[in-house]
Amino acid sequence: MIIKKTAAIGGGVIGGAWAARFVLNGLDCKIFDPHPEAERIVGEVMANATRAFDSLTDAPKPEPGKLTFVPSIEEAVEAADLIQESVPERLELKQKVHMQIDAAASEDALIGSSTSGLLPTDIQAKMMAPERMFVAHPYNPVYLLPLVEIVGGARSDPAALDHAHAAYEQIGMKPVRIRKEIDAFVGDRLLEAVWREALWLIRDDICTVEELDDIMTHSFGLRWAQMGLFQTYRIAGGEAGMRHFIEQFGPTMSLPWTKLMDVPDLDDALIDKIAGQSDEQAGDLGIRDLERIRDDNIVGFLHVLRDARNGRGWSAGKALKSYEERLKAMAANDV
Ligand SMILES: NC(=O)c1ccc[n+]([C@@H]2O[C@H](COP(=O)([O-])OP(=O)(O)OC[C@H]3O[C@@H](n4cnc5c(N)ncnc54)[C@H](O)[C@@H]3O)[C@@H](O)[C@H]2O)c1
Repeated sequence: MIIKKTAAIGGGVIGGAWAARFVLNGLDCKIFDPHPEAERIVGEVMANATRAFDSLTDAPKPEPGKLTFVPSIEEAVEAADLIQESVPERLELKQKVHMQIDAAASEDALIGSSTSGLLPTDIQAKMMAPERMFVAHPYNPVYLLPLVEIVGGARSDPAALDHAHAAYEQIGMKPVRIRKEIDAFVGDRLLEAVWREALWLIRDDICTVEELDDIMTHSFGLRWAQMGLFQTYRIAGGEAGMRHFIEQFGPTMSLPWTKLMDVPDLDDALIDKIAGQSDEQAGDLGIRDLERIRDDNIVGFLHVLRDARNGRGWSAGKALKSYEERLKAMAANDV
């Protein structure tokens, strides 16, 4: 199934970036968001996305699709092949929005939710045709980072998940199917563990937010970006490999190193402290400045990873390589 028309329901941080990925990949997108400034916000995301996409690849890019703001969910979804819901993370709201999508979408439309952690079984509970609904959880910035976690609910049709897999590949992404439906899937489960520990470290004055970010960005962050966790630790085990690594560091798991079982109280004092230190860290840089710096760095990493191993590519660079091959094949077929 080739996707031609898309719909974005919600045009915030994530929905606006989905719309950008769709449009920059030549797909028309109808977007609905009741926010009075939705057009301005999506316009700013689109400008940064276009800038990043231009530098991502020299492969021939499709003519951008058309982005249209519409006044209702029904109008957005009626002719769409792929519908992406990115409304705020509240189950009742998601259920209501999915009932509206369900009633107006064509029967073979694919309906993905961007939820960060709600179960697809719960989101699809009130739909008449839930078999076409699934979670498609992206990572910010959606227009650059390739990963999308695909999670089916109890009533999702496995064939719809296969179609979704192909659809997200069509727009340059790396879909990973999560084998069992769990809260927060895989990525956010990992991120929440790190986030919770970081909150303790700030609360207990062990470091500032800037020092914590320095510790991450100058060390394991660089390793994780290109080899993940397990392959990194395989190397850390030296010639004896993974078994040796586990034998060496396994016992530390029972030492009181982390506080992961407890949640710090997010009281006003802790929120003020984090927000204040974060303002200081950002200095004069506004959100759109930080987005551009982040995007340039990600594009640079992706280029390094694409060209690694004498051009054979490595990890996320392989996803960019396959995407470029697809773009070239599409351009050749047009000739
Ligand atoms: N921010 C992230 O890093 C991130 C990453 C991955 C997934 N997500 C998920 O994406 C979803 C959206 O998150 P976000 O960060 O973009 O939030 P956001 O607050 O930036 O955007 C949500 C948008 O939805 C709009 N909205 C509210 N009610 C609506 C309705 N009935 N119909 C259409 N639009 C409506 C709001 O006006 C707002 O613009 C959430 O489920 C979140 O968990 C967020």
